Amino acid sequence: MTRRIQTFTGNGITVTFDPNLCWHSADCLETLPAVFDVGRKRWIRPEAASSEEVKAAVAKCPSGALQFILGEGKDAEPLTDEAAGVSIRLSTNGPIMVDGVLELVGEDEQPMKYSGRCSLCRCGGTSNPPFCDGTHRKIGWKPKTDGGAR
Ligand code: SF4
Ligand code: FES
Repeated sequence: MTRRIQTFTGNGITVTFDPNLCWHSADCLETLPAVFDVGRKRWIRPEAASSEEVKAAVAKCPSGALQFILGEGKDAEPLTDEAAGVSIRLSTNGPIMVDGVLELVGEDEQPMKYSGRCSLCRCGGTSNPPFCDGTHRKIGWKPKTDGGAR
């Protein structure tokens, strides 16, 4: 089931959260607990820190579930840099990290995601393919080092 992207504004910044991408690493909660707290109904409060602190915390989100837009409401402008290209990185004992402006096309030829960042499952255990859902940590997955599939 696809869940809706959530939007939180305050202090001149808009933070978006895509629950379909989150793999519960808890980096956001540990980095800026005043802003990110799942114990609250409105669990992201951008106004609880400076916009620079919020940007830095969002940048640590490994899955791409968190993104930020400078501005609020209709004034908010997505930060995209078409010229920056795409980087693909294998994380340590974890997913394939994709960073950049990209379109991910599904088997049905339909665009699945247009994002600045996302993490793709590498262990084969995700319940949310093709995205990582954190299962690699639960099962202690490690890449093979004998020349087999990685
Ligand atoms: S994946 Fe991102 S949004 Fe999800 S818990 Fe980790 S830092 Fe927070
Ligand atoms: S790499 Fe994270 S669930 Fe597979």
